[in-house]
Amino acid sequence: MPSVDQARAWYPADDPVHGFDHVLRVLAVAERLAEQVGADGEIVRAAALLHDAAGAVPGPGSGRASHEQASAEFARSILAQEGWEPGRIEAVAHCIQAHRYRSVEAPRTLEAQVLFDADKLDVLGAFGVARTIAYALQAGEPIYAEPSEAFRSSGTGLPGEPHSAYHEYLFKLRRVADRLHTTPGRELGRRRSALLCEFFEQLAQEARGEP
Ligand SMILES: [Fe+2]
Ligand SMILES: [Fe+2]
Repeated sequence: MPSVDQARAWYPADDPVHGFDHVLRVLAVAERLAEQVGADGEIVRAAALLHDAAGAVPGPGSGRASHEQASAEFARSILAQEGWEPGRIEAVAHCIQAHRYRSVEAPRTLEAQVLFDADKLDVLGAFGVARTIAYALQAGEPIYAEPSEAFRSSGTGLPGEPHSAYHEYLFKLRRVADRLHTTPGRELGRRRSALLCEFFEQLAQEARGEP
């Protein structure tokens, strides 16, 4: 089993979106969910520590589009070096390959559903707000821009329309809680999502000069 100290070296320390503090939060929530739903704790723990280990930080040539594949490959090599049994290595790899909102592979095991839920719970709630804003700023986008009618109806903005943190909320984040799999994950998701929605709706009101 990779240790927390070993895992720390695979992640940037100072990235507010995909740094190691995200991994530690995902690990803590995933361990709790695993216990609540009776998932295999060892597989969940290894998957949480490794899930964003390769290619998750945006930047030139980082291959962010397939960081779930790169991280699964990395996990296979680390766990093989540790002498894990091939079936358990593949169980961890499946969790990692299926952890993204837009992963082609759906989470089909309890362990993969736990990792998916724990990772998505970190885009909801207070850290969800903080990370969404940090991500927008990293990408050179504003915190708020008025979404066009086109964006509101189709999710595709007009040419040159910024993709602000508020756009990301409208397009994706406000619906994430409905996509969670486990019962305790969905329960926590509803609470965190309520805070996220309240924050972004208030942000929009203030931006429009409404009280
Ligand atoms: Fe990820
Ligand atoms: Fe993640």
